[in-house]
Amino acid sequence: MQVLDYKDTNIEIEVNCFEQLRKKIETRRAKVCVVGLGYVGLPLAVEFARAGFNVTGIDIDPAKVEALNGGKSYIQDVPTSVLAPLVKVGKMRATTDFSAIAEMDTVNIAVPTPLRKTKDPDMSYIVSACEQIAKYFHPGMLAILESTTYPGTTDELMLPMFERPDLKVGEHFFLCFSPERVDPGNPNFQTSNIPKVVGGITPACTEIGALFYGKAIENVVPVGSTRVAEMVKLLENTFRLINIGLVNEIALMCDRIGINVWEVIDAAATKPFGFMPFYPGPGLGGHCIPIDPFYLSWKTKQAGIEARFIELAGYINGQMPHFVVDKIQNALNDYEKPLKGSRVHVLGVAYKRDIDDVRESPALDVIHLLGKRSAIVTYSDPFVPKLRPDGFVSKAMEAVDPLEGSAEADCVVIVTDHKKFDYAAIVERSRLVVDTRNALKGFTSDKIVRL
Ligand SMILES: NC(=O)c1ccc[n+]([C@@H]2O[C@H](COP(=O)([O-])OP(=O)(O)OC[C@H]3O[C@@H](n4cnc5c(N)ncnc54)[C@H](O)[C@@H]3O)[C@@H](O)[C@H]2O)c1
Repeated sequence: MQVLDYKDTNIEIEVNCFEQLRKKIETRRAKVCVVGLGYVGLPLAVEFARAGFNVTGIDIDPAKVEALNGGKSYIQDVPTSVLAPLVKVGKMRATTDFSAIAEMDTVNIAVPTPLRKTKDPDMSYIVSACEQIAKYFHPGMLAILESTTYPGTTDELMLPMFERPDLKVGEHFFLCFSPERVDPGNPNFQTSNIPKVVGGITPACTEIGALFYGKAIENVVPVGSTRVAEMVKLLENTFRLINIGLVNEIALMCDRIGINVWEVIDAAATKPFGFMPFYPGPGLGGHCIPIDPFYLSWKTKQAGIEARFIELAGYINGQMPHFVVDKIQNALNDYEKPLKGSRVHVLGVAYKRDIDDVRESPALDVIHLLGKRSAIVTYSDPFVPKLRPDGFVSKAMEAVDPLEGSAEADCVVIVTDHKKFDYAAIVERSRLVVDTRNALKGFTSDKIVRL
């Protein structure tokens, strides 16, 4: 009988863990787990189930788990007609019980990463999910963080939670970061055809992570480390934050000197190189652009570097809801109506066109600011039937019919340019329309006031 010394045994385990996981992924026998079944996690889980893997989702929200197990989607980009058959044939299931991890080969983590009021990253969701996962973590597993975060989270925060003397990264288990780039509501790009960047703690981690995503996603882009992968996402979102900040500042300048900013951008965009159009608007929204760059500024501040572009763009973008409310007030003044006591109808409260997500939506700021100036506010949104009270919306509101709301208002403000709105009918019935999105491009009417 061949006797292996300690070193040889370790090599054996290392080869085994990597090789065994590789084979399981190649043959689609790997048991896949996704922790956090929201806008990011559910579409990802569905893609792996569609690719032939058995997928278990874990979420702390029992309502989501119940809906998924009933084959009912609660995310707009995942049709129930796609989800239900996967649940029916046993390719997908969900649970609130983390002990399911004991049976899993891979785990993707897609839990929220908000900012605290002080703009410090709130890592509590990642920490709490990883603490639970660590209890059942075992040799041969691949763990991938997908939540957007600051560079260093995977190696500084996560790795120590999983590594043990008998469980070495790159040998007995594999750890990666892969930024999620999903764009809710985008009909052309969804999880499966958005290239997936992945970086591991070790080359073996990157290799196995890339192999794994390659089974469900068309293009995989391996990078040299988890920190590079974390930084990629922050560069992408900082690029958008700053360019939107720039174009919002250009819009403020154009407004002051009487130039139509939309016409300027459309003409500039005819340049076939060196220019990419960004558009002004009522402010930033969503779970990414207004938040992610501040992860970077928080991290770099610790290294003694002020992220000045980020802070400036954040300030300018944050002024836009105030500018919109001033516009409404000035437009009403032209009709000798004070904003106080006027009826203002907000069209669209989701943070962007054709989606149902109101997180960080500038519409909430606009409603809040209008309320502070004693306007009577109503709203319409085909995707958001109700607004719950929160820090911005002081009382619950229900959407009204867009044409009725417009006809009854002293001023209509287009905050989100959903395609479902009948803009011609809205303009016809309104007294005054403030358009913050150029939704009324091509319309000519004295009633229209553009951003
Ligand atoms: N929504 C987007 O468009 C988008 C795009 C790219 C990246 N991201 C990033 O992806 C991450 C997730 O965002 P999202 O939009 O999917 O959030 P979400 O709120 O829609 O979903 C997160 C889910 O995680 C669950 N959850 C919270 N704590 C948990 C825990 N400890 N264990 C298990 N489940 C838990 C919540 O119940 C929820 O269902 C964030 O870091 C976000 O910045 C989001």
